[in-house]
Amino acid sequence: MEKGKKVILSGMRPTGRMHIGHLAGVLTNWVKLQDEYECYYEIADWHALTDNPAKAREVNTNVLGMVRDWLAVGIDPEKATVFRQSYVPEHAELHLAFSMLVSVPRLLRNPTFKEKLSEIRKRKGMTRMTLKVGRLQVEEELEQALRFLREEEVVKAERMLHSLINRAKEEVMERLAEDASVEGSAIPPEISYGLFGYPVLQAADILLYKGEIVPIGEDQLPHLELTREIARDFNRIYAPVFPIPEPLLTETPKILGTDGRKMSKSYNNAIFLSDPPHVVEEKIKKSVTDPMKVRRNDPGRPEICPIFHMHAFFNGDEAEGIERECRAGKLGCVACKGRLVEVVTEKLAPIRERAEGYTDGEVWEIVEEGSKRAKEVAERTMAEVKEAVFG
Ligand code: TRP
Repeated sequence: MEKGKKVILSGMRPTGRMHIGHLAGVLTNWVKLQDEYECYYEIADWHALTDNPAKAREVNTNVLGMVRDWLAVGIDPEKATVFRQSYVPEHAELHLAFSMLVSVPRLLRNPTFKEKLSEIRKRKGMTRMTLKVGRLQVEEELEQALRFLREEEVVKAERMLHSLINRAKEEVMERLAEDASVEGSAIPPEISYGLFGYPVLQAADILLYKGEIVPIGEDQLPHLELTREIARDFNRIYAPVFPIPEPLLTETPKILGTDGRKMSKSYNNAIFLSDPPHVVEEKIKKSVTDPMKVRRNDPGRPEICPIFHMHAFFNGDEAEGIERECRAGKLGCVACKGRLVEVVTEKLAPIRERAEGYTDGEVWEIVEEGSKRAKEVAERTMAEVKEAVFG
């Protein structure tokens, strides 16, 4: 790697095969950057387990599929260091060192953490409804016990109250165990220590390579802010080891999934780089368009149409004309989709071919080779860190 180039670090959790959203949003940019910078592209496999440790079972397959597509779109392992987080144990070590520099309340303020929390709480809100129904029934039974007492049916009243007390005890125990206060400030048990520390591990990812520039999406900005705070605190408390990394927010074309939401594997609305032509065709033909454009001659709104977004990305030459004609009601969705099928299958063909050109063994070798290179850098930084901390 040449001297004097600035260091870029970015990463992705291994989710498997890449889709058009990844290509437009991240990978095209990574490919450009590898010529100008010293780039480290990380397979963040430990991060993939933070919301569910059982995902470990799919990780190897997902790494393989993801890296295959990175290579296919032009990530060049001669130019950029492609490495796997878990092959470089220094990530875990630096994460530990950093964990001492971050307060619990600071992590509680992390927006991605807060989102996850409210997602889980919303899910649990459903359970609360059932509890409410249970409470109504308890009230009824209490009324009945009171009536027994008024009628001096003491034994019956006693029996009723006993049963109620037992059930109340049970419920209290149960709710204590599973963390009763769903709406209060308590953290539900679905949240692991690892998830809580997610951004601290990310800070270690970046700073282990003394990353100066971090290409990320806007949603990741809070994580970078925490990384910067950690770097500053480490430098102040121990010794000036780390640069203060800057985000690189590149304007990327927006790609919608075939249902009009953000393209994502988990929404089942993605067109994968590895999809063969007939699958691409099927997905595009089934895709939503502007729901207001019912007939061929209705004017459409390209800005909300997944089909147009893909034209804009893959079909730069024709996009302007398509936009104009769609708005004017001169282009029907069927024809517009037909043209997109041609363009997308043509653009994906060489990518698919390159992806299949690697054997599994070759992909693993590239990952191992890159990880070895990454580890050398990581070891050097970790030596500096220990020197700074312990002298
Ligand atoms: N958190 C990032 C994401 O979900 C992935 C990631 C892990 C990352 N480590 C990183 C991104 C370091 C940039 C730098 O997209």
